[in-house]
Amino acid sequence: MSEQRVVAVGTPPTFRQQVARALDRAPEDVEWMPTVSAAEAVIGDTSKDPSVLVLSPAIKEPDAFGLAEYIGRTSPATAVLMVRERSMNGLLSDAMRAGIRDVIDLSQGADELREALDRAIVWSLNLRGVRDEGADEKANRKGNVVSVFSSKGGAGKSFLACNLAAAIASEFKKDTALLDLELGVGDVFAHFGKESTRPLQDLLAIGDRAERDAVLEVGTLLTGHLWGFATPGGDPAGQNVPGEAIGKVIRSLSRAFDHVVIDATAQYSDPALAAFDLSDAICLIASLDIVSLRHLSLAMETLLSLGFPRGRFRVVLNRADSKVGLSAEEVQRVLKVKADALIPSSRSVPAALNRGRPVVLESPKTEVAAAVFALARTFAVGSEANGGRRKLFGKR
Ligand SMILES: Nc1ncnc2c1ncn2[C@@H]1O[C@H](COP(=O)(O)OP(=O)(O)O)[C@@H](O)[C@H]1O
Ligand SMILES: [Mg+2]
Repeated sequence: MSEQRVVAVGTPPTFRQQVARALDRAPEDVEWMPTVSAAEAVIGDTSKDPSVLVLSPAIKEPDAFGLAEYIGRTSPATAVLMVRERSMNGLLSDAMRAGIRDVIDLSQGADELREALDRAIVWSLNLRGVRDEGADEKANRKGNVVSVFSSKGGAGKSFLACNLAAAIASEFKKDTALLDLELGVGDVFAHFGKESTRPLQDLLAIGDRAERDAVLEVGTLLTGHLWGFATPGGDPAGQNVPGEAIGKVIRSLSRAFDHVVIDATAQYSDPALAAFDLSDAICLIASLDIVSLRHLSLAMETLLSLGFPRGRFRVVLNRADSKVGLSAEEVQRVLKVKADALIPSSRSVPAALNRGRPVVLESPKTEVAAAVFALARTFAVGSEANGGRRKLFGKR
């Protein structure tokens, strides 16, 4: 494991020895940076990002949380650990929310540091290395899984996930599951004029159910052939759900349904990364403004560096006719990507939302609906072709 980069951050310089000892390494096999800013400066060369950043007790909480949030955005497979001289009590949940993977209380002895470092290295290795297992896994199931992602809020992620799912269910009459990963804060059900009433435990329990009926029972029928899976608004328990638990849920859904559409989180959360692992396609959506496009370009780079194959990405440009000075053609040329879908801006979208029906059902003859139907068709038809190929060649 010695190739796994571990960086100790914060004074005193002997903190490096302390970390090295816990890892049974020579001190020179652990890097050391004096400050949070120095650590932030080494992140960015995604192929070499460290597996673990471990922060000394000298790093103050606000700096630690700020660094963890930054790392979560720019290097999601790097684990951030905090070492404290005593228990954090009240601040623990803030730390977790900021994306810190573990807080080590040195007053509990040195073993805790060793165990936390080992766990963090394994976690990071898994995140970087599970991609191939994902491919085998896909051969064993029936449903086609599509995730929708944008690291920037407001790009149209929920709009696309809901309309894509409704389009697949209505046009192809395929049983479809729509999963809202913004646990406790999602708005997928609102697109259908409904609210989820099933608590988080019910959703996670799907992961252990093999029976299709038991899975359907936890879902809410949103419209013909379409079942929604989400937790009720305001349930804070959703913030710390492990990726592994969501992975199980998605596997169950993909056995019970022909299609699974996932509205992912705007962060590179563990649940979102688990969803991407199990997805046949990841739709990266952006609108035609510089900030949104920068997020799109960075997201592609980040996901590639995590080992997701380029062929899994679908680029969706939303509001692609907006008169904001950037044309879809220019964007495709500059970003060197070909968009898989161009979705126009339309007043029918908010109007449909206000009536609690996706625009593809409420106004199916509009251009915006046509663009979504066209994308939906590539998944519905493509998955049948895939199924055939799987049968011919066995496991990919
Ligand atoms: N093509 C579009 N035309 C008009 N309004 C849109 C379009 N796409 C998204 N919107 C609106 O933009 C807002 C943000 O979209 P939403 O899907 O909630 O974003 P996200 O889930 O990425 O945060 C919503 O009010 C939505 O109705
Ligand atoms: Mg949303």
